[in-house]
Amino acid sequence: MSEQLIFTQNANRTQIYQEILPQIQAVMANEPDEIANMANVAAILREAFGFFWVGFYRNIENELVLGPFQGPLACTRIKIGKGVCGTTALKQATIIVPDVHVFPGHIACSSASKSEIVVPCVKAGITTFVLDVDSDSLADFSEVDKVFLEQIVALFKN
Ligand code: SME
Repeated sequence: MSEQLIFTQNANRTQIYQEILPQIQAVMANEPDEIANMANVAAILREAFGFFWVGFYRNIENELVLGPFQGPLACTRIKIGKGVCGTTALKQATIIVPDVHVFPGHIACSSASKSEIVVPCVKAGITTFVLDVDSDSLADFSEVDKVFLEQIVALFKN
């Protein structure tokens, strides 16, 4: 396994996702430990896109608990149904928030975060974790991020 991420600098987001997706698959292919894989996915997404914060919250006894992440200090526990992460976990569907300041109940771990996308992993009807990506730019996430981040989260269901 290559331990160096290869992608085209300054390419558009679709191209970079297409370049990193097989590398994420390769990194995860022989590693059964979910936390190790989360750690590498957070690192890869941060390196490829320079996102402000990338990380996982795992559902432990019906509460989201901070898992592997890249970026500044973050809150450790989020109740299901609270904030963008908890709402995503409850609704079991990806949420894109173009402006976090107008999302009711948004949990501000950092005032620098301006937009956010959260993708759930649902197995047998249970949200097992969410992938949370924050940007310091407004409206930074689109259907492109949703499509590819959902593919990345789906790798954890294999
Ligand atoms: N903003 C999230 C909390 C997690 S941090 O952004 C890392 C939320 O509202 O659920």
